[in-house]
Formats: sequence, C-alpha cells, structure tokens
Amino acid sequence: MLLPPEGVVSGFGRPGATDMQVESAVSLKPYNTFGLPAVAQTLVRIASDADVRRVVDDPTFGRAPKFVLGGGSNIVLTRDMPQVVLKVEVRGMRLVEERPDAWIVEAGAGEDWHALVAWTLAQGWPGLENLALIPGTVGAAPVQNIGAYGLELQDRFESLDAVDLVTGRSVTLHPQICAFGYRDSVFKHSLAGRSVITRVRFRLPRPWRPVLGYLDIERKMTETGTAAPSAQQLFDWVCAIRRAKLPDPALIGNAGSFFKNPLVTPEQCRDIIGRDPTVVHYPLPDGTIKLAAGWMIDACGWKGKSVGQAGVYEKQALVLVNRGGAIGSEVMTLARAIQESVYGRFGIRLEPEPVVV
Ligand code: EPU
Repeated sequence: MLLPPEGVVSGFGRPGATDMQVESAVSLKPYNTFGLPAVAQTLVRIASDADVRRVVDDPTFGRAPKFVLGGGSNIVLTRDMPQVVLKVEVRGMRLVEERPDAWIVEAGAGEDWHALVAWTLAQGWPGLENLALIPGTVGAAPVQNIGAYGLELQDRFESLDAVDLVTGRSVTLHPQICAFGYRDSVFKHSLAGRSVITRVRFRLPRPWRPVLGYLDIERKMTETGTAAPSAQQLFDWVCAIRRAKLPDPALIGNAGSFFKNPLVTPEQCRDIIGRDPTVVHYPLPDGTIKLAAGWMIDACGWKGKSVGQAGVYEKQALVLVNRGGAIGSEVMTLARAIQESVYGRFGIRLEPEPVVV
C-alpha cells in the first residue's frame, strides 16, 4: 500500500483548463464509509458536466481507466487505485416542475442522500421518507437502486443526466434504459465505468400516500396506535428503526447490507425449509421467494464474530463493520467465510451487495 503524502494539488497541466484540479496520491479512507485504507494515484473532483468533458478531452487522462466515486457508501476497497478516480461533487437541489399528479425534484449527484430526503419533506414534497438515513450520495442511489421499508428508488425515479466517459456527451436517461432491479441497474452492468451520473430527478406523487406494510413500520403503527401516519411520522419512525438496527457509518465503518437477500424458486425454498423450518422468507408477486440473508448468517452463528478488525454487526448480521483499522482483505476474508458457512448449511450462495474494488 502506498503511503499517502500530503494531497498534491496541481493544475490540470493543459493550457485553458486552469479551473480543473488534479490531486495525486490521495487517501481514500475518508471517502469510503467502511473507512478502509486505499490510495488513489490520481483524483479529479467533478462539479459539473463540463468537468467530466475536460477529463475526457485531456490528452493524459482522456483514455486512462477511470473509477467513479460517489459517497463511497457501497464499496469495499481492497487495493490502491491506479485508475483516475472521479469524485462526483455536483451540488444543488430544486423543484423542477409542479404537475397536478406529482412534484418533480432534481438534485446534484454529489448531494447527500439523506439531506435530500429531509429537504423535500421540509418543503412539503413528501414521498422519499421510507428511504431516510440511507448513507451515500444522490448519484449513487440509482446505481444500486437503493431500497428500504417497502420502497425502492425506482418507485420515485423520473430521469437522470449522465456524461459519457468516452464521448463526453451529456445524456438524459429514463427508467427503461436504467433497467432497475433489486439493488441493481444498468450502471452495474453495461454502463459500469462508462458514464458519470451528474443529476437525478425524482417524481413525488400527489396526493401523497404512505408506503406501509413493512413489518417494522407496522410494529410502530401498533405501538403508537397510529393508523394513518403523516410523512413526518414515517420519516421519524424509519430514522428510529435504522438507528436501532444499523450502525452509523460516522461512528462505525460499514457499507450497509453486505449481501443481497437471495431470490429462490419455491422448490429451493422447500428444500431450505426442510433444513430449517424457521427460515425467514417472503413470497414475491412474480412467484419467486426472497430469503432473509441476515437471518441465515445469524443462524450460522456469525453475529458479533470478527476476522482481524472486520466484524459482523451485533444487531444486524447482514452488516459487516470495521471495528477500527480494518483493511479490505480482512473484510473479504470474513465475507468468504460467511458465504461458505451459509452455503454449507443452506445450499445458498450469498452475493455481495457492495462493489468490491
Ligand atoms: N434477521 C435476523 N437476524 C439478523 C438480521 C435479520 O434474524 O441478524 C431477520 C429479521 O428479524 C427479519 C429478517 O431477517 O425477520 C429481515 O431483516 P430486516 O427487516 O432487518 O431487513 P433485511 O432484509 O436484513 C433489507 C435491506 C436493507 C433495508 C431493510 C429494510 C437488503 C440487502 N437489505 O435488510 O437495506 O434497510 O431491508 O427495508 O435488501 C442496505 O441495502 O444497505 C440496507 C441496509
């Protein structure tokens, strides 16, 4: 691992591009919520579409491999990065349009996700409250189609702007092209490393209707005797549920759920129920069945266990944490050991959710 010297800041090395700054040997530790050490040989901050175009047009960096970094909330860094790291810092939040059936809100990809949720609610444009407190940036949200408490980003998505990393052209992408799936999108497949998302627009339906039905939310309704919660109440509940179960990355390094909840066929599910009748599972409308990966990891006895400084969170076995000073390889050794024991007991291969670099 290279030791990061003081972030060297230089001009972009090309006449007429004085407003672009290239930083060398930058520690990425503060830029990933797991707090894993890694050094970017070259880092460029992106505040606009024009900044991306300057990188694409640059004789040195234009053809170099690139890595797009958002809030760093969904990556596991296992090595230093020889690629040009583009750190997306596009700002701004605004109401674009007030339609009879929806508010259309736009946010810069570099805005903090939770800040957007709180801001839209405060403006009187609810609809994102179930997604409160998800760590990361607005631009990273469509990449993994973030979801929680019965709502996914795709349910509120209008369109996004991105800049192509080969041509430098700005494009607007609509839901069909984004090919959203469970913690999945085109940006994890054919467009991976091909474009930089710069702005995202959301469609917040009017009139607002609460998204209820998730067990944890129903519990809050029963506890408080509230049959029809307001958007603010839902926001407060989601924040309270997350704070009780999930580690705050500002205090304990983590990347949220480390594995996806696997989808299985009814036959596979019957086989697993045969192995353990208490397995937590949810039938989905398409006939497949979602298994609770956290439950399976917990059932294998992993809660609270560690490999080096990487550990399994005590209150949610689906979340791996940095107990202080962990390195990426420790996290991956722990992840593989968990995968093996879940496979041994249930015959299911767990798939990591974050991008492993
Ligand atoms: N469970 C256990 N032990 C555990 C963890 C979970 O028995 O250690 C059981 C729970 O009791 C529950 C079931 O497993 O019966 C599911 O747990 P939970 O409701 O906490 O949700 P999850 O499936 O573990 C998913 C998302 C979370 C999201 C929550 C709430 C994925 C991979 N994870 O977790 O998303 O916040 O639902 O909607 O889909 C994230 O993606 O980073 C994330 C945190």
